[in-house]
Amino acid sequence: MSGLFKRKPAPTRAEAVANLLSMLLFYLSKIDAWTLRDAVEGTLILGATGSGKSSGSGRALALTMLKAGFGGLVLTAKADERAVWTEYCREANRHDDLVVFGPADVHRFNFLDHELNRTGTGAGLTENIVNLFSTVLEVAERNSTSGGGREDEGYWKRANRQLCRNVVDLLALATGRITIPDLYRLVVSAPSSREQIRSEEWKAGSFCFHCLGEADKRTKTPRQQSDFEIVADYFMLEYPALSDKTRSVIVSTFTSMVDVLNRGLLRELFCTETNLTPEAVTDGRIILIDLPVKEYAEVGQFAQVLWKYSFQRSIERRNVADKPRPVFMWADEAQHFVTSYDMQFQTTCRAAWVATVLLSQNYSNFVAALGGGEKGRAETDSLLANLNTKILHANGDPVTNEWAAGLIGRTRQFFANGNTTHSGDDRWSAVLGLDWLGHNGSTSAGFSESFEFEVQPREFTRLRTGGPANGWCVDAIVFQNGRVFKQSGRSWLPVTFWQKR
Ligand SMILES: Nc1ncnc2c1ncn2[C@@H]1O[C@H](COP(=O)(O)OP(=O)(O)OP(=O)(O)O)[C@@H](O)[C@H]1O
Ligand SMILES: [Mg+2]
Repeated sequence: MSGLFKRKPAPTRAEAVANLLSMLLFYLSKIDAWTLRDAVEGTLILGATGSGKSSGSGRALALTMLKAGFGGLVLTAKADERAVWTEYCREANRHDDLVVFGPADVHRFNFLDHELNRTGTGAGLTENIVNLFSTVLEVAERNSTSGGGREDEGYWKRANRQLCRNVVDLLALATGRITIPDLYRLVVSAPSSREQIRSEEWKAGSFCFHCLGEADKRTKTPRQQSDFEIVADYFMLEYPALSDKTRSVIVSTFTSMVDVLNRGLLRELFCTETNLTPEAVTDGRIILIDLPVKEYAEVGQFAQVLWKYSFQRSIERRNVADKPRPVFMWADEAQHFVTSYDMQFQTTCRAAWVATVLLSQNYSNFVAALGGGEKGRAETDSLLANLNTKILHANGDPVTNEWAAGLIGRTRQFFANGNTTHSGDDRWSAVLGLDWLGHNGSTSAGFSESFEFEVQPREFTRLRTGGPANGWCVDAIVFQNGRVFKQSGRSWLPVTFWQKR
């Protein structure tokens, strides 16, 4: 008898957390839900300029995630995005959670200290910092006409990483702290010839030499000792033996990046104190980086990529069972912010409950941003494949439309055809007086079959783009790999979003 009323055991914490993934966020149709699980599998929104990405689907998703309590990082390209997000946060009653990081605000983020505090001086620190610099450099190189796409690009990358690794290691060993001004001083005071190493004058004035002495004196763990030997060999033997030309390219690549961080706005925001870190998103903060690329150009791009990378590295280590608050990473005009690391992040961030939302005009934007050519295409395909929900707005770009049609795939379609080559008996038409039926002819009809795009590329040119002329309706075709929408019975679904009038 008692068994009849036996209660189900209460779910464990892990079960309860896993169950949260089914949380409804949004209805794509009356019967098709978009859940937290869908959100953390990533979203891509594509459409031509003025197709309604930002004001249609973008706005709907942003409000949905804000209302559901997500924390998040917002990268900005256009100058009005701060105002737009302030309005979203007000509408979702999240105004108190909005934290603006920008020139006129009080927040500072010393990314090197943050990295140091997170990982400690030991293992991992150097590689993390080298990777962070490489990611920022990737964006800087992309902007310079001489950078990227060189035949020997691989060599310069490796050489630059090697210099970076050695200066970071040496600073950590000598001072226990990494700062941008010290990195700069160290590189420009490294010996440029064997003679210089023997010169007392150089020894007296070189910060690099001073650090080598300090690192030598300090007590070191066996691992630090072996690191120190490698660093000393590099600066005393390898580095001075490089040809002047090679050395100057490596040094200038490194210092050009460090220099940008070492002065003006970026120095103040990223190289002084820290009162805001990426971890704040897990407490529900919405961090908006108010250094829009359209206004601050390269400085804005550096700042955003720095934040994005630090955010990605910190969030992917979190355990959602401890703090199961989903977070988003929002990038409108995402082509300004994508880096090679994004593909890697996107393959694993689902487990950390990060809902990436990237908005851009077309497929080729990503290819160009990721270095162009075969490499750019391969990285784009990998990145976009890992953004599972695709919201495709009106587009006139044939490459994107073909890509989108190919994504949805082909189906067998039957084409009715009539054939009016006539031959033979026309007595019947004479009896009926149908003189228009043609003489000496016969009519044949049939079907042919072929594999055609299920949604033809031209369909994307006909979607509504909002504004009063369209009654503020913005059309999109939503595609999710591996899903059959109940409403359409297909892997794609036409969805209309409303703009705010
Ligand atoms: N609140 C609104 N009311 C009426 N029309 C609007 C509103 N917001 C935007 N529009 C218009 O709707 C269209 C779509 O605008 P939206 O900014 O969403 O495009 P988009 O796809 O984000 O373009 P872009 O690539 O340039 O950022 C534009 O013609 C715009 O002028
Ligand atoms: Mg837009």
